[in-house]
Amino acid sequence: MSILEIEGAGIAFRGLRALSDVDISVERGEILGIIGPNGAGKTTLFNVICGALRPDTGRIVFDGRDVTGLTPDRIARAGMVRTFQLMRPFASMTVVENVSLAAQHRLRARRRLRAWASEVVERVGLGPWAHRLATELPTAGLKRLELARALAMRPTVLLLDEVLAGLVPAERAPVLELLAELRERDGVTLLFIEHIMAAVMRLSDRVLVLDQGRVLTTGSPEDVTSDPRVIDAYLGEEPTHADS
Ligand SMILES: Nc1ncnc2c1ncn2[C@@H]1O[C@H](COP(=O)(O)OP(=O)(O)OP(=O)(O)O)[C@@H](O)[C@H]1O
Ligand SMILES: [Mg+2]
Repeated sequence: MSILEIEGAGIAFRGLRALSDVDISVERGEILGIIGPNGAGKTTLFNVICGALRPDTGRIVFDGRDVTGLTPDRIARAGMVRTFQLMRPFASMTVVENVSLAAQHRLRARRRLRAWASEVVERVGLGPWAHRLATELPTAGLKRLELARALAMRPTVLLLDEVLAGLVPAERAPVLELLAELRERDGVTLLFIEHIMAAVMRLSDRVLVLDQGRVLTTGSPEDVTSDPRVIDAYLGEEPTHADS
């Protein structure tokens, strides 16, 4: 059975149709890459899946349960967790405190909470920064913190919104390794929005292309990137995605 089913999802913002009739089925343990031009509706799709926005049409079924209209908090507690394209940690807290706060969703006991947060901070490579203020982190560190806050909630489905954006190639490799390991070791299902095509090609089992709020196509990374419609709608248009 699929871990996640998006059935006929649609949403409009004051007349602008941001998503139309989106159907997606994600298998347990799958890594699904999501690509498409700026404004295609990728982040909106995550907002709809994770409860930040209620779709006008359709429904979201997570692990056999209809979660449409539940709050983001309840969906996260159920095991579906997302990262934000724009990171917003609590500035007055340290790195490990930010992660502890996220972990509270799943763990109540305070001592275990701290230990778990420290473990997650180590795992994303932020160990040396654990007791520094979140505001002191450079971009790459903020990205890792965003990932750590999501992992602290022990997701079964993790949705990543451009976790590699703003990282130089040398900083991307360890994040990609961590993501691959999350699936291999922990069986986490991943949906990741990404403009860096090298990463999409390397990590995805399957790629979904969104264009103007619709699913243009899905398929293997090779099939999708050689599809003339995809080249036309997205890959051919470059400038904004030139850093792949
Ligand atoms: N809360 C909102 N209110 C009004 N319009 C919105 C809202 N969120 C998104 N939009 C619009 O919906 C469309 C899709 O936006 P979205 O952020 O989902 O695109 P995206 O594919 O994530 O783009 P990018 O690659 O630039 O991150 C855009 O036209 C955007 O301006
Ligand atoms: Mg976006």
